[in-house]
Amino acid sequence: MPGRHENERGFNMKRIGVLTSGGDAPGMNACVRAVVRMGAYKGFEVFGIERGYDGLIAGDIKQLGPRDVSGTIQRGGTFLRTARSEAFQTKDGFRRAVDMLENFKIEGLVVIGGNGSLTGALGLKKAGVKVVGLPGTIDNDLAYTDYTIGFDTAVNTALYAISNVRDTSAAHERVTIIEVMGRECGDIAVYSGLTGGAEIILVPEEPVDLGEICRTLIESRNKGKASSIIVKAEGVDIDSNTLDDEITKRTGLDVKVAILGYIQRGGTPTASDRMLASILGAKAVELLDEGISGVAVGTVGGDVVWPELGKALKMKKKTVAPLFDLAKILAL
Ligand code: F6P
Repeated sequence: MPGRHENERGFNMKRIGVLTSGGDAPGMNACVRAVVRMGAYKGFEVFGIERGYDGLIAGDIKQLGPRDVSGTIQRGGTFLRTARSEAFQTKDGFRRAVDMLENFKIEGLVVIGGNGSLTGALGLKKAGVKVVGLPGTIDNDLAYTDYTIGFDTAVNTALYAISNVRDTSAAHERVTIIEVMGRECGDIAVYSGLTGGAEIILVPEEPVDLGEICRTLIESRNKGKASSIIVKAEGVDIDSNTLDDEITKRTGLDVKVAILGYIQRGGTPTASDRMLASILGAKAVELLDEGISGVAVGTVGGDVVWPELGKALKMKKKTVAPLFDLAKILAL
């Protein structure tokens, strides 16, 4: 183990900060814990920044030791709290954020968040801050990594809801539209829909054909299926209640809508999310210790990767079409 504050290359960073930003995601706490404890192991002083970039601007910053993150690995949300900072988007707010890092002598920063938060991290990088981004969002909409922290838990929460709804849906011989989150990304819908045996999955990446939806529902009924589940991503270009009205009008079937909403964002993180959070949180600190920054850490095919932040944010997500097509076949 290198001497305190200095690694074997003589790189001399003393203090690092960590913040969570944007929508909270299960596993963010596990990730902060990994940053704090790997930080302590490497001899850094670690500072927790509250409420994302808002807390950075306000100087809501406190030192965190290994015991301060005890009992956090199993908790959803983020004990550092989070925000979608408008002030950070302004020139003045951004400047104050950079100055605050200097005031606190924080030389390396770990940002845990989604697209917007990592775009903020890229801005800091351009201003000369040594920053490492980590993917914390339930949406799984960051193309540079196979999975984001929180996605697996959100999928499992949606899956639990689908299973419960299926019971009542079958009892009443109904069609139920279950709306899941994900912004413009259909991954939560595809993963929970496929594993929940949904008859129909609707995602923003694929066109919605009302005629085909109605035909599928009628065919399913004729084939003897008592009920049908439609899992619809929130980013699909038709409102769930309008979809309900259209299906009812065109088929005469009994349709209900269940919008899962924020229930998907909370809850204890799954083992997969805790693993991902722990591995990526620790890696971010190791990279800073090696003098590497301006990158976003993720995993591809099981390997940990750290592309440059700008490149990572420009990558295009792989199409969901193969899983989408598989789900259709398995719903026969
Ligand atoms: O990005 C995570 C997410 O939960 C999206 O799935 C959803 O569209 C959005 O955040 C909701 O944001 P807010 O918490 O600001 O309502």
